[in-house]
Order: sequence, then structure tokens, then C-alpha cells
Amino acid sequence: MKVTVVGAGAVGASCAEYIAIKNFASEVVLLDIKEGYAEGKAMDLMQTASLNSFDTKIMGSTNDYSKTVHSDICVITSGIPRKPGMTREELIGINAGIVKTVSSSLIKHSPNTIIIVVSNPMDTMTYLVHKTTGLPKNRIIGMGGALDSARFKYRLAEALGAPISDVDGMVIGGHSDKGMVPLTRLATRNSVPVSEFISEKRLAQVLQDTKVGGATLTGLLGTSAWYAPGAAVSGLVQAIACNQLKIYPCSTLLSGEYGLNDLCIGVPVVLGKNGIEKIVEIALNETEEAHLKISAEGVSKTNSLLEI
Ligand code: 2OP
Repeated sequence: MKVTVVGAGAVGASCAEYIAIKNFASEVVLLDIKEGYAEGKAMDLMQTASLNSFDTKIMGSTNDYSKTVHSDICVITSGIPRKPGMTREELIGINAGIVKTVSSSLIKHSPNTIIIVVSNPMDTMTYLVHKTTGLPKNRIIGMGGALDSARFKYRLAEALGAPISDVDGMVIGGHSDKGMVPLTRLATRNSVPVSEFISEKRLAQVLQDTKVGGATLTGLLGTSAWYAPGAAVSGLVQAIACNQLKIYPCSTLLSGEYGLNDLCIGVPVVLGKNGIEKIVEIALNETEEAHLKISAEGVSKTNSLLEI
């Protein structure tokens, strides 16, 4: 199993590290445009192999896509991250050009690959990869909902005073501060609806804290987060690499599902060896449907800024 991670910045390097530690991939290629940067990060990570007991070979490359040849899965993290006060959508000007170039270069050497998009604004970048590569839609996946759901569970556990392992919850919709749709109605503490334990008011706070989870960290760190994004991507890579058939909320191209067409947005999907094995249409209530529709309008508006 060969995985390429484009972008050796904090998110890309964290993703490579988590993939290696999970030890399901034979090879990870970390690629960056900055001279020597990916090679340095790869060497540093390889020097943890004996300490973290993994056999995965991590190799770095300075913008040489021939090293990515025959990658089973390619992760695109390249592009500029947010600064405090910025929205993800404000990154489109620079990141669209980068994602277009990177995705074209990847499929030249790995025409059968599955691409996972992380670069922001992620839903629009995922849509751009479709338009750029023409890959089958099951092989282009946007990572946002897995990260947002992890933040949702973190906030729920905090409100419940419960261990995170007891909490389940999912966030669908756009990966944007205003567009996320945390499914509070379906969230549970060990199969019990969380509404049995916390008030509407407290749940509303959980929902708000989840939506600005990324922005909160950017305010604290001065740049976008990387540990949770890297871990979330590694989970999607593992689900595909190991044909786990796990359900994750991922940004995928919709053709009528949830009443939405011609955009990529976060909905539950089954991930396996073919990438998106199935889009799962769950029964949403009126409020959830309305929120998803508004979220989709926001994503479509950002998509309209693309020059494709
Ligand atoms: C985040 O929410 C980087 O969009 C990513 O942290």
C-alpha cells in the first residue's frame, strides 16, 4: 500500500506520522515544493520508526512527482493555512491554483489513485479536483466532516463530563464556520441520546463551539490546527487501505442525494477499498434538512468563485 502526502507542512507531516504509526502502509511519500523540507521531515519521522515500532518507509521528495508513481492513495494538504480572523473561503485565490497543479501532477503518475482533499476551502477544492482530474466520483474524497465530528465529540464529552470513548456524534454539511451541521439530535452517550443528560442551552453551546473549532485553534495557535486534521485524514486513509467499510462524513460529489446536485459537501459515506463505496442517505428532520440546504448554498457560492 503506497500513500502520497502532498504538503509536508504541519498537517501533512502529522498525517504521514499517524499513517506510519498505524503501520498499514508499506510506503509513504511526503512531497513539498520547499527544497529539502519533505526530505528532512521524512528522515526525522523515519528516525522514530524504532521508537514507535513501525516498518512503513517514509520518503521525502522536493516536487518530484515521479516518486509518487503508482500511489494507491494521495492526500492533498498543500496550500496556505488560515491566519487568525480569516475564513477558509478566503484561501481560495491561492489554494485553487496549487490544488489544480498538484492534482494534475498526481494523476499523471497514479491514474488509478484515490485522492483525499484537505486543502481549504475544502469542499470547493474537492469540487475543483473533480473538474481538474475527471476521476470517478468514488475516488475523490474531501476531509472535513471527520475532523468536525471529532471536535463535536470533544465538546460533547466536555459537556457530559463523559469519556470521549462513550460519545458518538456526526457533523455533516460544509467544512466552514457557518456551514457545519452537527447532528445533535442523533448524538449519543453509549446509545443514550445526549439530550437525556444536557440541556438545550448547553447543547446549543456545544454546537457553536464545534462550528468554530478550527477558528478557535487558529486564534490560539496563530495558524490552522494540525494534530486533529492529520489524525482525521489518517483515519480515512486507513479505512480505504484496509477496506474497513467504516462510515465517515466526507465531502463527496452529490448527484441528487439529499436533494443536492453538482457540488461536494459533507454527508455520511461508507469508505472501503474503492474509496466511497456508498453514499448513506439518512432521514433528516426539517431543521437539519434546512441547515444542510443553507450550507450547500454557501458551498455553491464559493464554487462560483472558481475559474474552471
Ligand atoms: C481545520 O478546521 C484546517 O480546516 C482545518 O482546522
